[in-house]
Formats: sequence, structure tokens, C-alpha cells
Amino acid sequence: MSARTPLRLTGDAGFQSAIVNLQSSILTDSFGRVHSNLRVSVTDRCNLRCTYCMPEDVTFRDRSELLTFEEIAAFVRVAATLGVNKVRLTGGEPLMRKQLHELVRRLVAIPGITDVGLTTNGILLAEQADALFDAGLRRLNVSLDTLDPGRFRELTRRDGLEKVLAGLAAAKRAGFAPIKLNAVAIRGFAEHDVVPLARYCRDHGFELRFIEYMPIGAEAWEREKVFFASEILDLIGREVGELVPANHDPSAPALDYAYRDGGGTVGVIASISRPFCRSCNRIRLTADGKLRNCLFALDETDVKPLLRAPQIDNLALANALRQSVWSKWEGHEINAATFVKPDRTMHAIGG
Ligand code: GTP
Ligand code: 5AD
Ligand code: SF4
Repeated sequence: MSARTPLRLTGDAGFQSAIVNLQSSILTDSFGRVHSNLRVSVTDRCNLRCTYCMPEDVTFRDRSELLTFEEIAAFVRVAATLGVNKVRLTGGEPLMRKQLHELVRRLVAIPGITDVGLTTNGILLAEQADALFDAGLRRLNVSLDTLDPGRFRELTRRDGLEKVLAGLAAAKRAGFAPIKLNAVAIRGFAEHDVVPLARYCRDHGFELRFIEYMPIGAEAWEREKVFFASEILDLIGREVGELVPANHDPSAPALDYAYRDGGGTVGVIASISRPFCRSCNRIRLTADGKLRNCLFALDETDVKPLLRAPQIDNLALANALRQSVWSKWEGHEINAATFVKPDRTMHAIGG
């Protein structure tokens, strides 16, 4: 059986367990993974054009297609009754959505939601950091691949490094903790950036994480372009400080390492060299209201009609969620010949 095929139990056993799953108050898939982590994309728009994420001449969805804050909150309320306790807001660039702090305020008030985070490119962060913090946001991940303005322009096809650095400083002043910095590691680029980024994060108390380059953008992806986690860790260990494995949350995608001298941590999200699908606890809601049970899913469940009905049917929403999770496949298969890249590129899925 292909790893992309959900486990199918046959006969009475399969039927029974599917029925049990449909009545269950938690979101489990056919491999027994419990799903408690929801990533909500609030827009596919972005003020950068990162080469690994989207084409330069990208077309964005009409705003009328995007879920409203009311609709997102209604969905999260149902997800929370099914055991979701962690929500991460993503984009495109989520801070391009006007008054995003108002959505944060609604989400932190939902019973059962104990953790709301945001992943941003940081361009608009200096302007919004205080409002987001006041609304109850605490966990912030900022995507930044280089500290060199020319290389920033090359990778993002825009200027803006100064704004991101100002955003990080404003977030620190506002009191966010933790602040994580995410860098995509592409061979031929990352070699120049790993050490400066590691030093910068050590100096400022940010948790640095490198993400192995994945086939989810607009460009042709090749395995040869991945700068692997082991190479990154070797480089930092040699040039910045000795690293030792740190405590690891099995459901988190990052493997964390700590500097032996106490200078903070570095993580690697090794989606290619060490896939973490076996312990995946994530589901995604796209900005246009599609449920995706994997970053690399080829099928989606449209929940927008349910959220736009004159009267929201919470049971129907809960069943859509249960069914989507139940049908999740074992893993992404990037390393297999059978791998099929999804039609959506990263900015339209939500990172
Ligand atoms: P916290 O654990 O709350 O800090 O969040 P996180 O690490 O999930 O958040 P973040 O949005 O910073 O994710 C970092 C990166 O990991 C993303 O930008 C993706 O590149 C990658 N990633 C996130 N989720 C998945 C996933 O389900 N599968 C794979 N392969 N990669 C993922
Ligand atoms: N591979 C790995 N990470 C990616 N991201 C975007 N495209 C890719 C890719 N092809 C990451 C960004 C950001 C988040 C939104 O997704 O760096 O952290
Ligand atoms: Fe925008 Fe993030 Fe994609 Fe870069 S990676 S273009 S910042 S959504």
C-alpha cells in the first residue's frame, strides 16, 4: 500500500472504527495520530515574493473569497470542541489582513484554545506588535533567511530587511516570548547566511530554526538544492558554538539543539532528511475556507459553504473535520518517485 493512502480496514472492523471515529470527540486519523494543532491562513496575499514560495507574477484571490473573522472564529470554536488547543495564524503574510489583532482577540477567548501563535515575514510587525500583544498573542515566528540586504532582495524579490529587523526589535520590546526566526535553507544560499543568522539570534535571544527547502513553491525543486540539517548543525557547531541535543517535543517539527555554553537554542525542521509525519498533529484551514489534512495534501474539503450557510450547522462542520482528519495519509512521500506536488503553492496554503 502506498504511504499516501490512508489505512483502510476492511469488513466490519473498518466500518465500526469509522463509525467510532465519526462520533469521537477528538480528531484522530486512521494511524492513531491525534490532531490538536490548527494552522489558519488568513490571506494568500504577501508583500514579498520569495522565490521558494511563489511565482513573481502571482495572482491573489479576490477578497470576497476569504473567510471573515467571524467565519474563522466559528470554525475554531467547533475545532476546539474536538480537542484542538493550538492555533497558528499564517498567510501569505497574515499582517496584510486589516485589524488582525481583532481576530487574535476573538481566538484567545475561545474555550479550549490555550495557545495562539503567528508566523509572519515581519515587514509590518513594527507597526502592529503592540496591538497584537495587547490582543493576547505571545508566540511569534518571523521568517528571515538572510541579514544581507542584497541577498534579501534576491530571495524575496523586494526590499525590506530593515523593516523586518525593526519588527523583530519592536516585538522584543513588546514582550513576545518566544520569538522564533525561521530561515529556509537552500544550497548555494544558506551557506553564507547560517553563521551570521546564528550569531544574530544568539545576541538577541531569538530561537533560530532552519527549514529544509521543500517542493511546495513555484520553482523547480531538486533534492540537490536542499541544504541539509546535518550540514547546518555542523557549520554552526564549528563556527559559532558547540551544540548538544535539547529536549524535544515529539509533535513539533523542529529538532532543537542548545549551545553548550548556554547561548540559546537552534532548531532544524528536517522535512526532507528526517520527515516528522509519524507524529504529525496538524490540520490546516486555507484563507478561502478549504480544510487540508497535510501541507502536501492533494485533496481538500470545502467548509466555506457550511460557514456561509444562514444557520451554521456545527455538527456538519465537526463531521467535515473528523472526516478530513480520518482520511489523512501516512506521510508526504517527498523522497519517493510517487510524490505529486500540490497545485497550491506555499503562500496559498499557509506555511
Ligand atoms: P510552533 O511549534 O508553534 O513554534 O510552530 P511551528 O514550528 O509549527 O511554526 P512555523 O509556522 O514557524 O513552522 C515552521 C515551518 O515548518 C513552516 O514554515 C513550514 O516550512 C514547516 N512546516 C510547518 N508545518 C509543517 C508540516 O506539517 N509539514 C512539513 N513538512 N513542514 C511543516
Ligand atoms: N520550503 C520550506 N519552507 C518554505 N516556506 C515557504 N516556502 C518554503 C519552501 N519551499 C516557509 C517560509 C515561512 C513559511 C511561511 O513557510 O520560510 O517560514
Ligand atoms: Fe510571502 Fe512568506 Fe511566501 Fe515569502 S515565504 S513570499 S514572506 S508568504
